[in-house]
Amino acid sequence: MSAHLKQDEPDTRNLLDDMVQGIIGKPLARPDGLGKVTGTAPYAAEYPIADCLEGVLVTAPFTKGTITGIHKDSVLSMPGVVAVIDDKRLTARAAQGGAGEAPAQPAREVGYFGQPIALVVAESFEQARDAAKHLTFEYRAENVADVPLDPEKTDAEPQDGATRQGDLAQAMSTAAHSVDVTYTTEGHSSAAMEPHAAIAQWDGNSLTVHASLQMPNYNISELADALDLGEDQVRLIARYVGGGFGSKLGISEEAVAASIAAMELERPVRVVLSRQQVFQTIMRRSETSQRFRLAADENGRLTGFGHEARVSQLPGEHFAEPVLQSSEFLYGGENRVLQLEVARIHRMTAGSVRAPGEAVGMPALESAMDMLAEEVGIDPVELRLHNIPECHPVNGLPYSSRKLAECLEQGAEAFGWDHGPRKPRQRREGEWWIGTGMASAARVHNIAEARARVTLKPDGTALVETDMTDIGTGTYSIVGQVAGEMLGLPMDRVLVDLGDTDSPRGPGSGGSWGASSVCSAVFVACEDMRATLAKKAGVSVEDLKLKDGGVIGGASLVELLDGEELSVEGHYEPGAVEDDFTASGYGAFFAQVRVNRFTGETRVDRMLGAYGFGRVLNAKTARSQCLGGIVWSIGAALTEALLFDPVDGHIANCDLAEYHVPVNRDVPDLEVIMVEERDPAASPIQAKGVGELGMCGGAAAIGNAIYNACGARVLGFPMTPDRVIATMPE
Ligand code: MOS
Repeated sequence: MSAHLKQDEPDTRNLLDDMVQGIIGKPLARPDGLGKVTGTAPYAAEYPIADCLEGVLVTAPFTKGTITGIHKDSVLSMPGVVAVIDDKRLTARAAQGGAGEAPAQPAREVGYFGQPIALVVAESFEQARDAAKHLTFEYRAENVADVPLDPEKTDAEPQDGATRQGDLAQAMSTAAHSVDVTYTTEGHSSAAMEPHAAIAQWDGNSLTVHASLQMPNYNISELADALDLGEDQVRLIARYVGGGFGSKLGISEEAVAASIAAMELERPVRVVLSRQQVFQTIMRRSETSQRFRLAADENGRLTGFGHEARVSQLPGEHFAEPVLQSSEFLYGGENRVLQLEVARIHRMTAGSVRAPGEAVGMPALESAMDMLAEEVGIDPVELRLHNIPECHPVNGLPYSSRKLAECLEQGAEAFGWDHGPRKPRQRREGEWWIGTGMASAARVHNIAEARARVTLKPDGTALVETDMTDIGTGTYSIVGQVAGEMLGLPMDRVLVDLGDTDSPRGPGSGGSWGASSVCSAVFVACEDMRATLAKKAGVSVEDLKLKDGGVIGGASLVELLDGEELSVEGHYEPGAVEDDFTASGYGAFFAQVRVNRFTGETRVDRMLGAYGFGRVLNAKTARSQCLGGIVWSIGAALTEALLFDPVDGHIANCDLAEYHVPVNRDVPDLEVIMVEERDPAASPIQAKGVGELGMCGGAAAIGNAIYNACGARVLGFPMTPDRVIATMPE
């Protein structure tokens, strides 16, 4: 049985609210939690597979050039070494492009420091690592001084899709108040806890790969394509993923290399990247420079809005960090210029990292807005409230549900925001200046096609199967909650089976579309199933009240099923509703920081995020997502930056000691407010994405608080002590 929904209209039925099981939205614990904290949930590299060989990648120690010879003999006689694989398909990944695209850099041509050139395979990991260190090869490397490495010193191509409306230059010159400022952000690493890892097994006809992936539904075609196999010859398993943050959206080198080796050697092969390889080989977030031109009338109403940005990418790759994404629709201003351009440089592939686009676009925009509030002389919260448009400022589309004003107001209230006049350097405790700042949050709502199979067993339990992943986000919980709510089952009677491509294709985890997409597929299946159950129970589906495994005051599911199994594959597709509305999650950040007047060090004292992202499916896992987003904001504001060595192009801080993501000591009291909302245009379950919203703008609240504390207006993230000190007034 199957059920299909292509959503062309908003779904205003509030069906999930009419159910009576009472688990949807509840802060239920994760079914996968115990296994994870006790170490019994297997991650990709941890499957005990007999007779497994170990592979270690050898990567290019230079930025651009050609590998002219690999001397396999240099290591083949070393203890335990089985093979050196130097197949050109080792780099057959198009990191952000679609499956089937040619690799940007064929293996013999090296285009970035850390690009894989060979895989050394041995009986033990130590033997493979030792041999990988000793493998000799010859290459011609170009002089780094002649290789484009700095996006600001390279020509850039304008991207299609620019917005030009009215006359921004004119609006700027006649504005009562204006800001023209350029902000920069540095490259980021996704920095997921679990390194990229894969174990490949080949049985002569089909390939099974345990891997750490966000999107098996898509990765299966990428891998099949890279290896010239049919999709029906490939099975991917990713039941537990220790974070991806974008770096596991596409198939990457460890999975391709392990597969090639397993097929060639006819033994299972495991490849786990070192932390340094994860940093240097997989991908980065582009650095950006973003110019804002904001023109406003006496009251702070925007009359002109300009956002022009430069990002970088490796030659041949398609992705361009979409920093303009929320600028398109967040604020008004009838005279508009939005333009993105890409500089081609030889740093590794730029890809999606934690909220691609808004993660760095929103902090820059919200910093410029803080400057505008100061120019106009109004409260920064008021400035945002004054500039919420009636409809999309360019295409005129209505917004779907939008809780930006509520987030700004409720957030300000809960934080204790002082709406009075603002001036820097009003409060000092010893050597610490103390200040507050705020910013709006926005992250576009994405939704994707998804399938999930729901099976009601004769014993009255349910099984949900899809190849969707849980990358730490709470998918196991929310999928079970939607099915349990619809079918009247407590959570312990719903089993959720994720991350196996033998199951129906899910949407994958990325772009914050996972929850609304996969849960819509589950919802579609359960709606269909409810119709069948209503018929069996002899009531209309509207009157079917299912709770705790049966009809309230009537037959149990076991009785209704009468020994039969009921199975429905739900298939959800976004439809016309996507084109009829501007859909986004919204929020507001408030931060208090202290800045050391002698060292420029910033500590965040407290921080609050208020968010509206449609229906909350699980209050605990959603809140955790928001908390995580605020933590990312602290990293983006203060510490996270990839540092590229100008001498050879390598990443100087390619580990978690030197690339500093916030740790406990950096994270103060955080408060999260989730504003009640249903968004019928976003999905049939009225939910939007939340995974990334939590960080989209947060760094600006911290940066604006730094300015309010000490008067240093730093025009680049991260706001490290050296930058703060250099900008701090006498
Ligand atoms: Mo996300 S950075 O789209 O996994």
